[in-house]
Amino acid sequence: MDEDSRIADLDDVPTDSTLLFTVRDGFDEREAVLTRTEDGEVRAYENYCQHWTDVRLDKGSGAEKRDGELVCGTHGALFAADTGACTYGPCEGAVLQRVEVAVADGGVYLADDGYEFVEVGSSMEYDLSSDRSLGF
Ligand code: FES
Repeated sequence: MDEDSRIADLDDVPTDSTLLFTVRDGFDEREAVLTRTEDGEVRAYENYCQHWTDVRLDKGSGAEKRDGELVCGTHGALFAADTGACTYGPCEGAVLQRVEVAVADGGVYLADDGYEFVEVGSSMEYDLSSDRSLGF
């Protein structure tokens, strides 16, 4: 695996929350999150609710999870950690945008041709007084 695509140590991927990272999609930067399924497998999704797609699931300190599902704090949508499918809420039936990752040598690597790894955390600026990004 290419060290430039190493996102995090496997041990740093939480079961009860998410780890935020930034990817580049062409000229655009996007946020994504790592989390674990109930079976301990690692999944990554773009960090945007499927109800209002500019609302972030992880606002920088980890998304909430409830009974193994990711929670959108804005209107309470739940997303299955293993598939990204919304199981409850205003976007029920929609699916989070999956980002392909691979586990090797104790690390998690970006393995998605559609993205380049940028950094752990967010490289974007947000107006902390609202849920929404500044729209850059
Ligand atoms: S914005 Fe996520 S449930 Fe409405």
